[in-house]
Amino acid sequence: MERTFIMIKPDGVQRGLIGDIISRFERRGLKLIAMRFMNVSRELAEAHYAVHKGRPFYNGLIDYITSGPVVAMVWEGPNAIAIARNTMGVTHPLQAAAGTIRGDFGVEIGRNLVHGSDGPETAAFEIGLWFGEDDMVDWERSTERWIRE
Ligand code: RTP
Ligand code: MG
Repeated sequence: MERTFIMIKPDGVQRGLIGDIISRFERRGLKLIAMRFMNVSRELAEAHYAVHKGRPFYNGLIDYITSGPVVAMVWEGPNAIAIARNTMGVTHPLQAAAGTIRGDFGVEIGRNLVHGSDGPETAAFEIGLWFGEDDMVDWERSTERWIRE
């Protein structure tokens, strides 16, 4: 079982797409483990996107992520990281397939609505950065056997 960190970025919140975006992950069959609606400090945004420091888009990216509230979440499932990335679509909405979040709701790379961890190490780092162990909700989903064999 794998966990991934997902964030609805400020554009997704401002455009009233929180419900639509969460619904994509719910319907896919991933299980919600933690969720928080919050403003993002510059410090947290910089830690989260430290890997992109020095890139030409870095300052704009930090401004974007700190420009309004986000929804931070942890989702769980078999191959949750790849399943979530695939539900989101590729980074640039122009290349993202129709039916994905970015492919259905976005037009520009700098307003691509959602973030998802890109590997197991990144997921562990990001979940630890945004949440504490106590924030993880331990629950049994009654539909489990209809989603997983
Ligand atoms: P994310 O980390 O947000 O889930 O997105 P990603 O893995 O698909 O893409 P990544 O390469 O990690 O880029 C992080 C975010 O930076 C913004 N970006 N802007 N203007 C640009 O050329 C550019 N390139 C990247 C996007 O918001 C991207 O999601
Ligand atoms: Mg990334």
